[in-house]
Amino acid sequence: MAKRENFSSKIGAILVAAGSAVGLGNIWRFPVETGQNGGAAYIIIYIACIIVLGIPIMMSEFLIGRNTHSNTAGAYQKLAPNTQWKWVGRLGVLSGFLIYCYYSVVAGWTLEYAGLAIGNQFEGKQIEDFKLIFADFSADPVLPIVFMAVFFLATHFIVVKGVKDGIERFSKMMMPALFVITVVLVICSVNLPKAGAGIDFLLHPDFSKLNGGTVLNAMGQAFFSLSLGLGCLCTYASYFDKDTNLLKTTFSVCGIDTAIAILAGFIIFPAVFNAGMSLSPEDVGPSLIFITLPSVFQEAFVSAPVIGYVFSIMFYLLLILASLTSTISMLEVVNAYVHEEFHIKRSTSALIVTLVCMFFGVFCALSFGVLRDFTICGMTVFGLFDYVASNILLPVGGMCISIFAGWKLNGRIFYSELTNDGCLRAPYLKVVRFMLRYIIPPAIALVLLNMIGVF
Ligand code: PHE
Repeated sequence: MAKRENFSSKIGAILVAAGSAVGLGNIWRFPVETGQNGGAAYIIIYIACIIVLGIPIMMSEFLIGRNTHSNTAGAYQKLAPNTQWKWVGRLGVLSGFLIYCYYSVVAGWTLEYAGLAIGNQFEGKQIEDFKLIFADFSADPVLPIVFMAVFFLATHFIVVKGVKDGIERFSKMMMPALFVITVVLVICSVNLPKAGAGIDFLLHPDFSKLNGGTVLNAMGQAFFSLSLGLGCLCTYASYFDKDTNLLKTTFSVCGIDTAIAILAGFIIFPAVFNAGMSLSPEDVGPSLIFITLPSVFQEAFVSAPVIGYVFSIMFYLLLILASLTSTISMLEVVNAYVHEEFHIKRSTSALIVTLVCMFFGVFCALSFGVLRDFTICGMTVFGLFDYVASNILLPVGGMCISIFAGWKLNGRIFYSELTNDGCLRAPYLKVVRFMLRYIIPPAIALVLLNMIGVF
């Protein structure tokens, strides 16, 4: 078998991992959650979750991947041979597969909306028009499948180009572009005449809105947003060099991901409040980026339509870039597994995974139209994939990774991998291991029980 590739640089390692983390979770799901959970107070809880939960688990995924130089299922087999731990890796591959199928549907919608923005189709329309446009488009039996397929193929071609020439090169170009677009959009948004109320909403915490549910939502969001619990980051870390600083990479990725999520809030809320839109759950619910925002952008830039036109295009471009750097990590986690465990050529395994995901993706795409009434356990195929993967498999995966790194993994490997054989000083690692053992598993158990509706 050909020699395993590595990423060519340390900054490349940070940018690919940040690319996986930054996605629809930051620009769409985080503002939705913030809007529904009372603004600044939610952001504080979210940051606490990143520190307590996200950082230790990300370190664990990185160290497991880099130590074994193996796909996520193979990694557990190497570190704990002849045990059932390999199922943690396999579970991750399954989560990656499920998320890839339905995430690409929404990613496809962003392509359609970018097209509408470019064609200036938003001009002069009201929120009622946008509701109709979205309902018509998402229920169409053909268009969403076409856009989804375009997304699958784009992801496929980047991944088959290879770890270095495909994934790393693409992320290195796209992540800076993504950051620049984000900053430009923030500047436009916070300068709107009535942006103040939106900024206030993000900066002044109202703790009366917080309850147990908020905390648990924030934990779930931290997981999804950091791409934790399914071995994506473990797979990427298997391409890291021996001298990559895993601690610095973890802090950088968590910092970039959180910064982009908060900046997305500063794009969306000043514009929403400027339009005088009340924050009803419907406005900031899942339809936020396809119904509320196009209409908000119209109102916000009514006196400067050219800026509004460019703003809308840049916003959907931002969503496309962010989604694409995430979907390549989803394909790669499954692809690395099929390629290495079944000894299939990399390009062939990628093609197989792409075609199978596309097949199931069709059912997800049609869940908003002809298959709306086809339900399993009361959920459409799209809903089922999302529920099983995000609400059950990711937290279970995260809990298992935490238990593995905290209890099962030899302490010597834990400390030497994270400190590059003692070259880096990190006295706080004892605290990290303590959290992996005693704090994180019960905390995630709580999220999980909440997600499946026990509370
Ligand atoms: N973190 C990505 C986002 O924020 C989603 C994702 C989840 C990517 C799981 C890879 C794995 O959109």
